[in-house]
Amino acid sequence: MQLKILDILACPKCFEDLTCLPKEMHGDQEVVSGNLKCKNCRCTYPIQSSIPRFVPAVNYAASFGFQWNRFKFEQIDAFASEKLSANRFYAETGWRQDELNEKWILDLGCGAGRFLDIAAKSTAEVVGVDISNAVDACAVTLAGRKNVHLVQASVYELPFKPGVFDAAYSIGVIQHTPAPARAIAALPRLLKKNGKIALTVYERKPWTLLNVKYLIRPLTKRIPKKALLFLINVSMPVFYPLTAILFRIPWVGGFFKFVIPVADYPRAPGLSLKQRYRCVILDTFDMLAPQFDYPQTQKEVEDALSGAGVVNIERLKIAGLSIVGQKK
Ligand SMILES: C[S@@+](CC[C@H](N)C(=O)[O-])C[C@H]1O[C@@H](n2cnc3c(N)ncnc32)[C@H](O)[C@@H]1O
Repeated sequence: MQLKILDILACPKCFEDLTCLPKEMHGDQEVVSGNLKCKNCRCTYPIQSSIPRFVPAVNYAASFGFQWNRFKFEQIDAFASEKLSANRFYAETGWRQDELNEKWILDLGCGAGRFLDIAAKSTAEVVGVDISNAVDACAVTLAGRKNVHLVQASVYELPFKPGVFDAAYSIGVIQHTPAPARAIAALPRLLKKNGKIALTVYERKPWTLLNVKYLIRPLTKRIPKKALLFLINVSMPVFYPLTAILFRIPWVGGFFKFVIPVADYPRAPGLSLKQRYRCVILDTFDMLAPQFDYPQTQKEVEDALSGAGVVNIERLKIAGLSIVGQKK
């Protein structure tokens, strides 16, 4: 934990300032281990492996911690020799790199850091928050990036002072929380006046919950994580070539995607067959393992944002539900 993040951290219970009590330092600016203690309510929060931890190590998002620590590098652009994450980041936020420079940016639910990696290419200070130990995977994928800060915390108890971020984004996270509207409403408090927010959320259409993925999830999410990954691994030699054909048949490909619970990962020239195969396994696990998956309608997202003081709310004209706005 770099000491400069203390300027924006606060106790998640009472929002008062925190005192840092280091045990081990790396240089004079990075705390490797120690505690953060609230000056008001005296709650303490550990700093472990250079990351402040505001949630219990075991929580509902354990499947994500498992997933991102197994598949750390697969979706990081530099390792895939592709720009899939950069393209998605700019398309789904509507932001440009130059407007991020010198700002404080929040990535809620950073996972292994594919989008933090892109935001951190600017000169912004970027803060990745995740409830799971995906933050430890992120510490590896983004090691040495001085403008990246990681915090293990929940959107429901964010450990930041009000109005400290210039922009906040969250891609593919909100539907994986137990109460999506409450998760969305928690973010605008952290934004400065006119600060920007960008959310990509799985969209719920009238037929979405009939997707076979949702029909089998009550079973698959209860399978122990290692066993589920094993099952996906052993069935993929059949499903990968099968879906590579079926998902691409004109007119009916969409139907097959609806009834076969296997991910369809984008094809890109820089991705080798092996890399794409790994990404299909990763995304299939990501479909079947999470405790919560509550896709949202556009109206639900917009209502939660406007109820929390966001204006100029707009749905971006791209595939998927990506909604941007500005703090009043
Ligand atoms: C599907 S992953 C997306 C990760 C990353 N945004 C990406 O697109 O690669 C969802 C992430 O949300 C995190 N998450 C779920 N509930 C959360 C919560 N209450 N607070 C913070 N993060 C949460 C999970 O741990 C997981 O890493």
